[in-house]
Amino acid sequence: MPPKKKNSSSLLSRAHPDTGVTAEVRIGDCREQLAKFEGVRTSSVDLVFADPPFNWDRDYDRHETGNAWDDSSMSREQYLDFTTDWLDLCVDSLADHGSMWVNIPDDSAAEIVVHLKKRGMHMVNWCIWHYRFGQNTKGRFINSKVHALYFCKDPKNRTWNPDPVLEESDRRTIYGDKRTESKRDGMPAGMRVPMDVWYGQYFGRIQGNNKERRPKHDNQLPELYLHRVIACSSNPGDLVLDPFLGSGTTGVVAHAMGRRFIATEYSKENAEMAFERIASGPVRELGALRGGSTAIHPKRAHTQLAR
Ligand SMILES: C[S@@+](CC[C@H](N)C(=O)[O-])C[C@H]1O[C@@H](n2cnc3c(N)ncnc32)[C@H](O)[C@@H]1O
Repeated sequence: MPPKKKNSSSLLSRAHPDTGVTAEVRIGDCREQLAKFEGVRTSSVDLVFADPPFNWDRDYDRHETGNAWDDSSMSREQYLDFTTDWLDLCVDSLADHGSMWVNIPDDSAAEIVVHLKKRGMHMVNWCIWHYRFGQNTKGRFINSKVHALYFCKDPKNRTWNPDPVLEESDRRTIYGDKRTESKRDGMPAGMRVPMDVWYGQYFGRIQGNNKERRPKHDNQLPELYLHRVIACSSNPGDLVLDPFLGSGTTGVVAHAMGRRFIATEYSKENAEMAFERIASGPVRELGALRGGSTAIHPKRAHTQLAR
């Protein structure tokens, strides 16, 4: 068992001025803090989104206070024990209709899938978040993806809202196929549920002069990624949990979307900055932007349809 890390614990809490939904963040190790939330103790969480530390010697907290998670301190065995500990806490926190998403790179995705299946969770999708600008390398292929693992407790009783995440289909945007404008599959004209590989406008890594970028945090997810997750697998008023708040992407999006939000974060500085971000709201116009995974393909001539 990896040792639980000691950190001073405190609670940050606010209610949204328009919707009244609450956002609560507990500072400290999630393995100690999660059970302090009533919604966790009573298995009332509707949606978990977890983007854990990767044990990659990554500097999550550059505030030089000494109050940061040391992301290289665990052996592989300890990291896997840590992983199963927080996974179990999250699975146990879920309501019967609840869903859980895990954002994880290649090296631990398989272990997480196996553990969640052992715990009786059902895989809905194994999505890929594809990004450009991966770390350059000559000795192997360049990494350009992270796994977005989508599980539910009960496949016959899960929250699933496709409408708010629909995007324009390739038939409309690339091929100009008129048949998609009068379809009979129940989907609005020219629209489809996104594919399980996510990329395109506003889905890039948050770096450089990206408007979403938060200072002193190098592992921030795009707001649209969290919008897609929260919109399709929770409802307004639902309880959303993020055990690894980081810069606060899940919180800022969930709070703006009228979800009750609870989170833990080991670093006090990250937690406080994320909490400010939750209060100030998202940068993107959520709901208006759908990502558009066709964006990297050029429009094709109609004549190609005949082939
Ligand atoms: C990959 S980052 C999360 C990034 C976040 N999804 C975002 O968009 O900003 C992981 C975060 O988990 C925090 N963390 C690491 N171990 C933790 C633990 N045991 N309990 C709570 N938080 C932890 C780190 O301080 C870091 O901020």
